[in-house]
Amino acid sequence: MDTRVKPTVVKLGGSVITVKDEAFTPNLPAINRLAKEIAEAQLDSVILIHGGGSFGHPVARKYQIVEGYKTPGQRIGFSKTRQAMMTLNKLVIDAFVRQSLPVIAVQPSACITTKGGRIHHFDVTAIQHLLRLGFIPVLYGDAVLDFDLGFTILSGDQLTAELAAIFNAEKTVIAVDVDGLFTDDPKVNPNAKLIHQISLEELKGLLDSIDEAKTVDVTKGMRGKITELLPAVKRGIQIDLVNARMAGRLYKALKGEKVTGTKITRG
Ligand code: IPE
Repeated sequence: MDTRVKPTVVKLGGSVITVKDEAFTPNLPAINRLAKEIAEAQLDSVILIHGGGSFGHPVARKYQIVEGYKTPGQRIGFSKTRQAMMTLNKLVIDAFVRQSLPVIAVQPSACITTKGGRIHHFDVTAIQHLLRLGFIPVLYGDAVLDFDLGFTILSGDQLTAELAAIFNAEKTVIAVDVDGLFTDDPKVNPNAKLIHQISLEELKGLLDSIDEAKTVDVTKGMRGKITELLPAVKRGIQIDLVNARMAGRLYKALKGEKVTGTKITRG
């Protein structure tokens, strides 16, 4: 296996692979379809990350895991959040193996420690080795140990940007449940337009105007998502945001074909 091959980093948003408003409900048809789209894209090297959706978020919120360790009663919540993510991860892994994709789950909480919510120590030895052998490492947003807070939640988006930077990703595709970034909130403003391409500089201006999603996300909606991805863009890594509820869009983005979505570039 050629170790110079740059991986494609793919994040599957929790709102795509789960039914967001129903606790512990996977969207199995979506998971299966996305596994198929990734298989059909026949990429040389892939790192996959998925979010928590209705598995991780409600539990983490109930026990205030993102805020850190404050009371012994939270400990069972930390366990339950980890368990919820492993349950969802198993469903994702199952679907990908059915497509004969050589996926291997890598538990983020076992190789990452954060400090104040930011990745501080990340042992990538196993991921490196897996990539060299042509495996697809699968990570996810997780409840992790934190040097300052005791524990916290590491979002799949922070993880995605970090992995894209560490492994100098060929490209990074973020699969979400909206068409991309808009000039305004399309649910409120019918004149809101999809932004097809945006530079880092333009994006900074836009960020202030993006409303936080009013959902049960403990990792802060669209603004949080974009803010997390900025460091990777700064390093010159292109990010494609696509609506993975629509069949075929993830596939097209992976193949570099023309697709509805938002391309975020450095220049
Ligand atoms: C959150 O990960 C993980 C937990 C709540 C444990 P993400 O923040 O990446 O999840 P989504 O994609 O927004 O659902």
